[in-house]
Amino acid sequence: MIVVYLPFFAVGAVLLVLPTASQSCSVPLGWREMSLNQRVSLADIVVHAKALNKTKTPQFEHGWPEVYDGTMEVYCVLKGGPLSSDITVVEMGYIGGHCTANEVNIDEEYILLLSRRDNGTFLPDNVNVQAAVIQATQENIDNIALTCGLQNFTLPLDVAGNAPEQRGCPTHPNESGKQCVGAGAASHIVMSTNLIIFLFFSLFELL
Ligand SMILES: *[C@@H]1O[C@H](CO)[C@@H](O)[C@H](O)[C@H]1NC(C)=O
Ligand SMILES: *[C@@H]1O[C@H](CO)[C@@H](O)[C@H](O)[C@H]1NC(C)=O
Ligand SMILES: *[C@@H]1O[C@H](CO)[C@@H](O)[C@H](O)[C@H]1NC(C)=O
Ligand SMILES: *[C@@H]1O[C@H](CO)[C@@H](O)[C@H](O)[C@H]1NC(C)=O
Repeated sequence: MIVVYLPFFAVGAVLLVLPTASQSCSVPLGWREMSLNQRVSLADIVVHAKALNKTKTPQFEHGWPEVYDGTMEVYCVLKGGPLSSDITVVEMGYIGGHCTANEVNIDEEYILLLSRRDNGTFLPDNVNVQAAVIQATQENIDNIALTCGLQNFTLPLDVAGNAPEQRGCPTHPNESGKQCVGAGAASHIVMSTNLIIFLFFSLFELL
């Protein structure tokens, strides 16, 4: 198998309908599921955090309460730190027409894949059109902490100030593992050779 990176807009799209949504969404032709480790390697920022509150997202007020900003208490920046312990992740929940939903429940813990906006807020990073919100199960945390080989776990900048139940970072990052160390870049998909051949011949038939 060879790996080809294509921006979404460059490939044909198939329709996929979320069961709860009236609007449909598009995923790139040839979409294949990526593992958590693959998505971690492509995300710029990965945190372990707890959801503290939900508020309206500016410019998506009409979407409330389906669309919301999540106020998150960061326990550990697994990748892309350092960050404040108190961050706002905008445009969470479900936005009509999107293929993924990024739901959080207040007081529950998550692993979040994020990208940074200029004004200090963060966006969910739906790497490979998959959810940016992952349950912070021990298995998922261990997976990232032990097998990913991420080198720079960082505590939030203002831990002592406003995070009494600070959990900190996983203790033993596996420095021999390298699977998840990669250039941050969202919006990438993996295609198999077969699909490329298929696409090539599909195009050929059109001519
Ligand atoms: C949580 O968000 C609601 C609005 O969604 C707001 O009224 C409330 O004050 C917030 N609570 C805290 C503790 O920030
Ligand atoms: C933050 O920046 C984004 C663009 O990067 C913009 O859409 C959004 O309105 C900004 N939010 C605030 C509160 O300024
Ligand atoms: C860890 O952080 C240092 C300094 O911030 C950086 O130079 C280095 O490339 C990072 N290592 C990895 C594997 O991200
Ligand atoms: C560390 O990562 C390597 C390579 O991914 C893996 O073979 C090894 O089992 C990991 N060690 C632990 C303690 O998880």
